[in-house]
Amino acid sequence: MQLRCFDESCATKLDLHAPALACPKCDGLLEVEVDAPKTSAALLKELWSERRKSRDPRDISGVWRYREFLPDYPANEIVSLGEGNTPLVRGHRSAAWAGVSDLQFKHLGWNPTGCFKDLGMTVGMTEAVHTGATVVACASTGNTAASLAAYAARAGLTGRVYLPAGQVSLNKLAQALDFGAEVVEIEGSFDDALNTLLEKTSEGIYFLNSINPFRIEGQKTTMFELMDQLGWKAPDYLVVPGGNLGNSAAFGKAFAELLRFGFIDKAPRMIVVQAAGANPFAQLWRDNADELSPVEEPETVATAIRIGNPRSWRKSLSGVRKTGGQVLDVTDDEIAEAKAVIGRDGIGCEPASAATLAGLRKLRASNSVPENASVVAILTGHVLKDTNFIIQAHKREEAHAHS
Ligand code: F0G
Repeated sequence: MQLRCFDESCATKLDLHAPALACPKCDGLLEVEVDAPKTSAALLKELWSERRKSRDPRDISGVWRYREFLPDYPANEIVSLGEGNTPLVRGHRSAAWAGVSDLQFKHLGWNPTGCFKDLGMTVGMTEAVHTGATVVACASTGNTAASLAAYAARAGLTGRVYLPAGQVSLNKLAQALDFGAEVVEIEGSFDDALNTLLEKTSEGIYFLNSINPFRIEGQKTTMFELMDQLGWKAPDYLVVPGGNLGNSAAFGKAFAELLRFGFIDKAPRMIVVQAAGANPFAQLWRDNADELSPVEEPETVATAIRIGNPRSWRKSLSGVRKTGGQVLDVTDDEIAEAKAVIGRDGIGCEPASAATLAGLRKLRASNSVPENASVVAILTGHVLKDTNFIIQAHKREEAHAHS
C-alpha cells in the first residue's frame, strides 16, 4: 500500500507512512491506495464472518475485522475501543413520514464515543502511534474532538482540540474534557479553527482531521460492515449527512474498492444532505459547478455540520457521481421535525443525523426516489450528543401549545 494524490492528473505516489498532509506536488488531497487482496472475495467474506466468533481485539472491532483493506500494523500498536458493530434498525414512523416502505437506519451514534468519528479515529490514532507522534490535534465542531480525546487517552498521547468558541454542544465539549484533551477555543467558525490548526503543522503535531487519509480508511469500513449485514446486496439508496464531506468521501472509496475487487456488483446511489445554511456542496451540485464556492458564515442548528468550506468535496463528489447519486439541502425546521420523528421511533439521533430523513422526505416529495426503493440512512451521532437542542425544542413546543 502507498499514499497517492487523489487528483488523477497528478497521481503523485508517496510512501504509505510519509508525514504528508497534502500532495507535495499539487497540494491536493491524499488517499491510501490499497493493494488487490490476496484471497478471493468469497473466502474473505467467510473469514470476516468467522472473525465475529473470535476474541482477538482486532476481530471484535468492526473496523479492524476488515483489515485486509487497511494498512497493516503490529497487533500491539492498534488503538481500539471496540468500535463498529453498529446495528441496522428499522424506523417505522420515520419510513411513513418520509414516504418510503423500506427504510433502515445504520446507527453510527452507537459507537464508543457516540459518533461515527471513532471508526476513522481508531486507524488515524494507530498511524499516529506507528509514526511515533506524541501530540495529536484536530479542529472540530465537537464530535471529532470527543473521539480524538478518547483515542488519544487510550494511546497515552496528548490530545489537543481546536473548537469554534461557543458553537459546540456542551455534551461534546464535556466528553473532550473528560478524556483529558487540551481545549483551544477559536473565535469564528469551524473553518477558522481548521485554518488556525493548519498553520501549526511545523510544530510536530500529528494532524487528525478528515483530510488525514488514514481516518478515511477507517470510516470506509462502515460500508464493509453494512454490506456484510445486508448479505453483500446493496440497497437502492444510501443517505448521508454532509459537513466536511469526509464520511461520504470514505463511503465512495469503499464502493469503488468493493466493486473493483468483486465483493458487490452494484453500489447504492449515494445521497448527501447538507443543512441549508451550510450548503456549499448542495449549491455546487445545483449549479453543476466545477469548483466549490465556500459559504462565508455558515449557520445551522445542526452545529456538527456548520461548515462553510468542506475540504473533502472532490472525493465526495466523485463518489456521488460514480454511484449515480445526488446532493441536496434541507432547512433547520425540516431537520428539527425529522429529528423528532426519529425520536418517536425510539431511536433518536443528533440534529445533523436527522438531515438524512429530512432529505429523503424531500426527495420523495419530488418523486426523485420511488416509494418502494430500499433505503439505508446513516445516523451519525447519538441522541445525547446535543441535549440542549432537545430541551429548547420542547420548551418552544410547550410555549406554542399554551399561547
Ligand atoms: N454528522 C455528525 C454528527 C458530525 O459530527 C459530522 C461532522 C457530520 C455528520 C458530517 O460528516 O464532516 O464527514 O461530512 N463532524 C465533524 C466534527 C466536522 O468536527 O466533529 P463529514
